[in-house]
Amino acid sequence: MSKTHLIIVAAGSGSRFGSPLPKQFCELAGRPVVMHAIDALQRAIANASCAIVLAPDRVEYWHALCEQYHFTSPQVVIGGDTRWQSVKNALDVAPADADLIAIHDGARPLPSQEMILAVINAFDDPKVQGAVPAIAVTDSLRMICNEGSKPIDRSLLRAVQTPQAFRADLLRRAYQMPYQPTFTDDASVMEAAGFTSIALPQGSPDNIKITNPRDIAIAEAILHFSSK
Ligand code: C5P
Repeated sequence: MSKTHLIIVAAGSGSRFGSPLPKQFCELAGRPVVMHAIDALQRAIANASCAIVLAPDRVEYWHALCEQYHFTSPQVVIGGDTRWQSVKNALDVAPADADLIAIHDGARPLPSQEMILAVINAFDDPKVQGAVPAIAVTDSLRMICNEGSKPIDRSLLRAVQTPQAFRADLLRRAYQMPYQPTFTDDASVMEAAGFTSIALPQGSPDNIKITNPRDIAIAEAILHFSSK
């Protein structure tokens, strides 16, 4: 049986959220967003080791939250100025014997158990190097170009979510490369390192990333309807 290590990245400042409290710490249905995320992953992948990546000035605050909500903190890692640097810091201290590493945005509180397991089960295929939940795009799309903009075929595109999981040795090698601004997620880092066998299990429209304050109300509604 493979050993999985979980990394929850929560070191962002949430500048788009427009509140002094980063989005991952805002309260959703009675507890901080990031606690929902950690719980969901730990429930789905029993016995996985786990780390949370935090900004240096949020560590004390996080421990106070854990006390307040009677929550057991995973290992704490100090993050960096970019998501890439935050993941890299967590990889530096990840257990050497992990076979798979799954990375999840602390700002995504509602990954379903089914989706997390689909990501992990993708590795039953020995050719798979990474697995990334993805969903079809429902809006019509246009690409900006010199002439203004032009339509593009949405059937060729997928929106990508987390958790994203990878074979640990390959992910460590991919993160040896220097930073590029196009590294918006971990699959893009793997791809740039030549590890292109990435499975795309079905993501979920409920697996939203809290970005604007109104997303908290949307997440509350999703929780409300999914508990019916
Ligand atoms: O900024 P964005 O929404 O893409 O961030 C995705 C996730 O990465 C969030 O959970 C955020 O806290 C985390 N992050 C991080 N370190 C950074 C920037 C973002 O851990 N420097």
